[in-house]
Amino acid sequence: MSATPPKRLSLNAFSMNCVSHIQQGLWVRPEARQLEYKHLDPWLELARILEKGCFDALFLADVVGLYDSYKGGADVSIREGMQVPVNDPMLLIPAMATVTEHLGFAFTASILQTHPFTFARQLSTLDHLTNGRVGWNIVTGYLPNAAASLGLENLPNHDARYDQADEYLEVLYKLLEGSWEEDAVLADVQQRIYADPAKVHKIHHVGPHYRVEGPHLCEPSPQRVPLLFQAGSSERGREFAARHAECAFILTTRRALAAGRGPVPDVRQRAARYGRNPDDIRFYQAISPVVGGTETEARALAAEYTEQLSTEAALAHLSGSIGVDLGAIDPDRPLETFDSQAMTGAVKGLLESAPPGTRTFRDLARANMAGQFLVGTPEQIADTLIEFGEAGIDGFNLVYSVTPGTFVDFIDGVVPILQERGHVPRHYEDGPLRQRLFGSPRLPERHPAAAYRHRQPSTA
Ligand SMILES: Cc1cc2nc3c(=O)[nH]c(=O)nc-3n(C[C@H](O)[C@H](O)[C@H](O)COP(=O)(O)O)c2cc1C
Repeated sequence: MSATPPKRLSLNAFSMNCVSHIQQGLWVRPEARQLEYKHLDPWLELARILEKGCFDALFLADVVGLYDSYKGGADVSIREGMQVPVNDPMLLIPAMATVTEHLGFAFTASILQTHPFTFARQLSTLDHLTNGRVGWNIVTGYLPNAAASLGLENLPNHDARYDQADEYLEVLYKLLEGSWEEDAVLADVQQRIYADPAKVHKIHHVGPHYRVEGPHLCEPSPQRVPLLFQAGSSERGREFAARHAECAFILTTRRALAAGRGPVPDVRQRAARYGRNPDDIRFYQAISPVVGGTETEARALAAEYTEQLSTEAALAHLSGSIGVDLGAIDPDRPLETFDSQAMTGAVKGLLESAPPGTRTFRDLARANMAGQFLVGTPEQIADTLIEFGEAGIDGFNLVYSVTPGTFVDFIDGVVPILQERGHVPRHYEDGPLRQRLFGSPRLPERHPAAAYRHRQPSTA
């Protein structure tokens, strides 16, 4: 009998085109390059570093508004560089793609910010330019300021945003999968025929939110639909993930995984109800490695980070995420005294994965930053990641304390051990991002997008 091969673990770096992403306040450290976020150089350097470490992708978060619900406004967010100013993540990708060959680029874009017809064109263009290395993190947006700046009277309510997202995806699937047939492009120089008009179709979509005639303006790209990421923890969010997502970004614990609780088994079961295989979705846990030559060294570094983290900025972040002004209530008030109706799935997810002893909003805000610290020697960190893998996690989104330092330490120390033990490949396989993760460049026939593919008329 042959032994089971080691589980392949997927690695993504988690970043954002701004000064301060998750671990607020650490941008002031001298080795951090966050201050240079508006220049290309640190991004090109990061892309090269990640490719050296055989990472699957750089995952870029984004928001299109201010976190302005703390202490009645956005002053703390602006003063602390807390996700503002924030530049567009998508525009970094072609530059980073020119200095890499294999690294994937998953970027976040809210369904509220761009009409799906325009967005489909952006996705196809990026997928062409990168030879199929693009992923999209589907978000529905939670900041009222974003809605107000995008011309909406109000931020649509939580479940209505997911309903709109379902239609947004339907339009994208029609455009990306159903508009251009596979052999529509002939590029026939002799006959001067670029494409066959009979094989390019309008989509005639009419729905509650969108009317799109089509056709899609781009010819089919290597993946057609980019690799689909999603991070939703509410009931409705999990349902959405089960239907559409290929990679789900979650917060869980090894204890929950071992007990068969939390989003992983739940979303896999829901996926089966949509005719998908439970393995059609990969689950990525957020971790923030703090690597030291010895455990004592690693602990000292983590203690230094912890000391420097800005609780004030973290409270502004959490206030915006849950839509509650934590400056107007006592942040040291026990969480259970708070009306749980007002707690969104995001907070529930945070609570579920927060370290024991998280009792107040101040604790929760700090857990949001330091709760994912994984502190130790390279061997200790590799062991923990492998245990996560054995418990059902497929990969990790690495949250940085300082960039690129957190990624460099991980790649120099931990990746060689994971490679040695067979969990991370030493070399990239060829092909688009989806092919490397799922074995095929296109979405499988089981995915709802496939329903919109143009079928060849039967010749029988
Ligand atoms: C690890 C993680 C990363 C996220 N990144 C973003 C992001 O970059 N932009 C965004 O608008 N929302 C982001 N979200 C929020 C989710 O898209 C979603 O709104 C949130 O998890 C709440 O999900 P729910 O509404 O289904 O409960 C993130 C959530 C998690 C857990």
